[in-house]
Amino acid sequence: MRLTRRQLITAVARASGYGAAFATMHALGLVAAPVARSEPFELSPGIGKSTKVVILGAGIAGLVAAYEMRRAGFDCTVLEARDRPGGRNWTIRRGTKVEFTDGAIQSCDFGDGLYFNAGPARLPAIYRTMIGYCRELGVPLEVEVNTTRSALLQNDRVFDGKPVQLREAINDTRGHVSELLAKSIQQGALDQEVGPDDKERMLVFLREYGNLDLGLNYRGSERSGALQLPGAADVMEKLRDPLPMHALLDADFWSGMLFEEELDQQATMFQPVGGMDRIPYAFAKNLGDIVKFNSPVKEIRKTPNGVRIAYSDSQGAPQSVEAAYCICCLPLVILRKIPNDLSPRVASAIQNLAYEAAYKVAWESPRFWEQENDIYGGISWLSNGPINLMWYPSANPCSERGVVIAGYAFQDPNSSIQAAFARSRAGVEKLHPGRSGELTSPIYVSWAKIPHNLGAWVSIADLSTTYYSSVYPELIVPDDRIYFAGDHCSRLVGWQEGAALSAQNAIDMIVDHMKHTSA
Ligand code: ALA
Repeated sequence: MRLTRRQLITAVARASGYGAAFATMHALGLVAAPVARSEPFELSPGIGKSTKVVILGAGIAGLVAAYEMRRAGFDCTVLEARDRPGGRNWTIRRGTKVEFTDGAIQSCDFGDGLYFNAGPARLPAIYRTMIGYCRELGVPLEVEVNTTRSALLQNDRVFDGKPVQLREAINDTRGHVSELLAKSIQQGALDQEVGPDDKERMLVFLREYGNLDLGLNYRGSERSGALQLPGAADVMEKLRDPLPMHALLDADFWSGMLFEEELDQQATMFQPVGGMDRIPYAFAKNLGDIVKFNSPVKEIRKTPNGVRIAYSDSQGAPQSVEAAYCICCLPLVILRKIPNDLSPRVASAIQNLAYEAAYKVAWESPRFWEQENDIYGGISWLSNGPINLMWYPSANPCSERGVVIAGYAFQDPNSSIQAAFARSRAGVEKLHPGRSGELTSPIYVSWAKIPHNLGAWVSIADLSTTYYSSVYPELIVPDDRIYFAGDHCSRLVGWQEGAALSAQNAIDMIVDHMKHTSA
């Protein structure tokens, strides 16, 4: 069967999650590789000349827009429907209420100091814009351990369903592949491809790369872990037998094994100390009362030389604000429901777009994975469900309790909260038999059911087909005085970096417009 690109990417997303799906899109050339700005973003002081700007939404894009514009002299107002900044950058702690659009309410009762980043949870070091804002705003960062070789891979169909460690799967695969390649080269099977000068050097490399013996055989490696570590007196190291290549092929662990190779999943990865929301709160503190909370947008209207935005204030009273420019950072599925004067080209572009129903389930738990499995941070992967992964906490290793994510995938199976918890617990049981009973205080965040979002980000199906060719071009140019920002206005959908860069890009366009107009 030949899959369309859309079917391929959707299948990859279903089986292996967002990382693999985004990687597939990169491989197919559907999303450009991230390009860093050559110079830090900086506006000339005073360039805003008190020009009024209204910014819709206090997620990362809105906050960055207000932060940069205010210090360049613009007169900014940020309208935010919620009582907090951050949008999807949302950290859940004891007392946080999670309310779904269907009326279901969960209340978090984690222990002191424990938290769950329901939205973004990692800051790649290569994304300099976000790291730069953390530096500038004094948000303390710590390392987020995105991968550990002690983490587990599990597939019901191989090894009797028993999980294996990443170090085994990675190094045994590498050893077997190196042996095959080395023997092929030695036997002359690749003489067309490998010239005489390189033949011996390739064998030297493959011996090293795969940990082969002098006969080019892979007989196992300490790299794959030991049954017994060497110790004092006569305690000798005992190595494992390598996992057979045939079983590794059956296991199909590739996406979990290679997750850490994706450019934006590589070490070093950071997280703010105490929760990802330390970033939006730092922006909001800097901005003060120009951010109006509990102020949902009711209408987006154009005026001859600007915009008029109707909203309700924190008392529920109708209000409006006029401005020369608007930066609209609302999710597109929210924007299209608000009465507006958007031009037909924009309105129709966003009309049928779908957002991904990504979800996470988090639990408080004693840190059994640390003492029993040597797992400190990182992610274990399950091949056949009922969840796709288990993501262990990076903060406070060796403390008593932590918050673990058990289930974070693109597609939400769209079931009841209790069913989501049951699946999550069953997934933990597969990875850590006998331990799932210790999980307490679960929280389930399904972004499609979160008011003011109704989804996580533009769907993989749209991203992999028409989004960049027919929707995106309408959003990266202004609609009269309305400019758009958010991760959907970047090539980094699903990343705060994309949101921040899109805000800077909108500001550049506004400044350019001001240079060419007197009104
Ligand atoms: N950027 C998101 C993540 O890394 C999709 O989980």
